[in-house]
Amino acid sequence: MTDRLAALCELIDRTPSFIDVGCDHGYVVKYVLENALSPVIAACDISEPSLDKAKKLLGEHSGAEFVCADGAQAAKGYDTVFIAGMGGREIVHITQNCEPQTYILSPQSHVREVRISLLTRDYDIICDKTLKDGRKYYDIIKAVRGGGKKRLERTDGLMLEYGIFVRERNGVMLERLQKTYAALLAYPPTEKNAAKVREIEEVLKWQSL
Ligand SMILES: C[S@@+](CC[C@H](N)C(=O)[O-])C[C@H]1O[C@@H](n2cnc3c(N)ncnc32)[C@H](O)[C@@H]1O
Repeated sequence: MTDRLAALCELIDRTPSFIDVGCDHGYVVKYVLENALSPVIAACDISEPSLDKAKKLLGEHSGAEFVCADGAQAAKGYDTVFIAGMGGREIVHITQNCEPQTYILSPQSHVREVRISLLTRDYDIICDKTLKDGRKYYDIIKAVRGGGKKRLERTDGLMLEYGIFVRERNGVMLERLQKTYAALLAYPPTEKNAAKVREIEEVLKWQSL
């Protein structure tokens, strides 16, 4: 299992029912089964060939249910919904169609839109971390039902863009932003780039305190 998947798996608590939407290889479902974290476990993928990988890893009689469907339909009714390795907009679309107790999410893009969607739907973001696996950086988010709207009242633009806990020390986030900052300085100084540079300088100030 990769460092990214291992970090995501650590966020999974015991739950009445669990679904991995976009399970592909099936490693996360294997972890949930092996650690007996739920009596009801589903491996879901919209693609039959992807789901076949999970079936091959887990075996047809592992105890997990295999669901070949769009997560926007399949995730309804589960207590923990896990989605990793998809674009943020797709994740927003899927999560807007279910109301679990807990989401564990790792969007590959448009993370700000995921944060806004969770908070406005009253899901509180209790973990929001940047992690590094190999040379790549990933965002991982855990949100629970209730308290999101309250948190939104004290959430500013930097928190939506870079993470709810942007003002807490995170060495990996610092490293990622230093790289983005250096890259931006090498780009043409458009108004948009200049605004982004100012924003990152603000975060770097917090992260270097
Ligand atoms: C890049 S893989 C990520 C696999 C694994 N979750 C991970 O993070 O390593 C994305 C998977 O999501 C599946 N997928 C994309 N959109 C989906 C949807 N709406 N519902 C269910 N599965 C979807 C794809 O078929 C693919 O297997």
